Amino acid sequence: MKHFLRETDLKAHELGEVFSLAREFKRKRGRPAPPVLSGQTWALIFAKSSTRTRVSFEVGINELGGHALYLNTHDIQLGRGESIEDTARVLSRFVHGIVIRTFEQSDVERLAAAASVPVVNGLTDFLHPCQVYSDAFTAAERWAGPDGDLAASLKGRKVAFLGDTGFNMANSWILGASLFGMRLALAGPDGHEPGERIRALLKAEGRTAGFTYTTDPMEAVDGADIVYTDVWASMGHEKDATARHARMRPYAVTSRLFAAAKPDALFMHCLPAHPGEEVEQAVLDSPRSVVFDEAENRLHVQKAILAMLSGARGK
Ligand code: CP
Ligand code: NVA
Repeated sequence: MKHFLRETDLKAHELGEVFSLAREFKRKRGRPAPPVLSGQTWALIFAKSSTRTRVSFEVGINELGGHALYLNTHDIQLGRGESIEDTARVLSRFVHGIVIRTFEQSDVERLAAAASVPVVNGLTDFLHPCQVYSDAFTAAERWAGPDGDLAASLKGRKVAFLGDTGFNMANSWILGASLFGMRLALAGPDGHEPGERIRALLKAEGRTAGFTYTTDPMEAVDGADIVYTDVWASMGHEKDATARHARMRPYAVTSRLFAAAKPDALFMHCLPAHPGEEVEQAVLDSPRSVVFDEAENRLHVQKAILAMLSGARGK
């Protein structure tokens, strides 16, 4: 793996390795980690706000012996029109890797094409691969137990994704589920089906579209092992928030809807959450809500991804 731009940049046979490394980093936290990024500086380019992604990458890079350099796009020349390609070429002369959060997936791909160092996707409008890997790891550590096979524990499990079925987290689950061997049931408003672009990507990668789409939230959660939701108005959608909320209200994860999933189903959300909108506070507070484990696991999973990208694999 040269870059981590989308879920399928890791192959199915590498899932075991990334999850085991993450488990090892998590277990050994607090003891000195293998300094796989020793002497390295990684640039973190952010065109959008972030709490989890920024902090987990900064802390993770530091814990691996490297140095993280936060670059808000407003502060660098990229924000004044310098090209993505020149930014990639210049940063490649200084740093050993780049994490980027921006709007267009194509910008991340252009950055990677012009860079001579690894590039990691820290969220675009299209995908949020670091998040979905952390989510899958969070479920797997529960299902596999302390020494079980994490990747194998995901196989055949059902994820119900409710609400904004046409944006980054839904797309990441579409790609992620196909790689993890999970079943995905999406439920959202009429006409809010996953777009052509994600379907075309699945086709281009020779993956069958292993997801279903329904406008009936009860149908989606029936038999689900994970009930997942995301905000209804993502970063960049603020102006349409009122209309989006009106359309997505039937897909709010209420206690009643959550109770219709399997009795031991997990509730997941990438955060930040808007309690009372896409999820009821009682569901967020439920003992089966693992939202803060998902957030914490960003650190451990991303350290594993960084170790794999650096070629050192944490050993
Ligand atoms: N889940 C997530 O990516 O959170 P941030 O926007 O805080 O980074
Ligand atoms: N869909 C959300 C995810 C935030 C982590 C957004 O893009 O704002």
